[in-house]
This record gives sequence, C-alpha cells and structure tokens, in this order.
Amino acid sequence: MKRIKLAPSILNADFRDLRSAISCIEGMADAVHLDVMDGNFVPNITFGPLIVKAVRELTDMPLDVHLMIAHPAEFVEDFAQAGADWISFHAEVTRHPGEILGLIHNLGKRAGIVLNPQTPAQRVFDYLDIMDYVLVMTVMPGFGGQKIIPEALAKVGEIRSEAERQGVSIEVEVDGGVKTRNLGQVLDAGADIVVVGSSIFAAPDPRAVMREIRDILDGFHGHMQE
Ligand code: DX5
Ligand code: ZN
Repeated sequence: MKRIKLAPSILNADFRDLRSAISCIEGMADAVHLDVMDGNFVPNITFGPLIVKAVRELTDMPLDVHLMIAHPAEFVEDFAQAGADWISFHAEVTRHPGEILGLIHNLGKRAGIVLNPQTPAQRVFDYLDIMDYVLVMTVMPGFGGQKIIPEALAKVGEIRSEAERQGVSIEVEVDGGVKTRNLGQVLDAGADIVVVGSSIFAAPDPRAVMREIRDILDGFHGHMQE
C-alpha cells in the first residue's frame, strides 16, 4: 500500500510562532503546504519567498508551495531559491502550463498544476506526462476555513483514470475544507495527498487533530496502487 501524504497548510497557524506551528506537525506530516497569494489572482495577500525561506530553516520536511498568483513564471525561481520542493501554479493563469512546468523542473523541483473547483479536469490531460502532481481545489482559492465543495472531488477520479489510460504515474492532491469529518470522502475519491489547514491550526489541540488524521490516512485501504 502506498502511504497517503498529509500536507498541513499553515495558512491559519499563528505566524508569531511559526516554530511551534511546524513542530506540532513534525513527525506526522509529509510536507508543509504553503499558500502564496498575491491579491491579484485571488482577493487576499499572504506571504512570499521570505516566509518560505523562514519555514525552510525550521524544518527538513518537503515544502509544498501553492502559488495563487497571476504571474507564476516570474517567481518560480525565487521560490525555488527560498527552499520550495514542490511548486504548483493555477491552470487559470496561463495558456502555456507546459512552459512553467519546464521552468520548475529545470530548477530541480517537483511541479504541479492547480485546478479551481469550476475548472475541468481535461485542462491538465495534455500535461500529465510532464508533471508530478495535480492539485484539485475543493474551495475557491483565497481563504482558509471554507466549506468543502464535494462536487469538485469527482475530478480526482477523472484525472486518475486518464493518467492510467496514458500509462503515466501522477499524484493527485486535494486542498480546501478537508477535515476529519469528510476525510473518508476525500480518500474514497482517490486523493494521494491531502491538505488540511484550519481544521488543524484552529483546533485547541492541533497535535491531537494531526494524530487523528494520520490514523485515518494510515488505516485507509480503499484505492490500490501499483
Ligand atoms: C485556499 C488554500 C488552502 C486552504 C487550506 O486558498 O489553498 O490551502 O486554505 O485550508 P483549509 O483546510 O482551512 O481549507
Ligand atoms: Zn493551498
């Protein structure tokens, strides 16, 4: 069985104390999900390479950088230099995703394309062989703590079957509104990587929620892989 990866989003963590935020997921997370927003592609601004670099210095976990920015091509190098390991950008911001995937790969990083809830799965089909993962958004990007849009989960299966048809291996990551309550549904849909933000960091005991999620992920034997 393949281990399902957990990538906690620190978007709703206490930024006065990033060290504690990281240490409470350390040992149970597989990556740290970092939500970069530019106030242009999305109606919110979060942080840039400076904070990514600060997190880099706090942990050896892979950094999963989710770029919700209008011009990713101009910034992927800065994020790679700051210590990103996985870099994803939105399908909605470019007509040439293949070029940006190439830029990310040339920097030696894993590359992914993100789909907004209303963007069809077909948008990534031509690039499955030149990318490492697809990030399926289950909320509109911009804010943590929103309610999951379960209809978007259907795309996970569509992407998996198309990848199988093409004979390529790809990971599918699900992001937005995931919590212990709906995790079963997300796993049944076929997710390989799950992002969980506010449900961990807005909880009184984040580490207890982490443990609970880890147990659910490790106990899931639904979809068989290679
Ligand atoms: C939304 C972000 C997500 C999200 C995760 O724009 O990409 O990573 O905030 O947080 P929750 O789990 O609170 O939806
Ligand atoms: Zn995200």
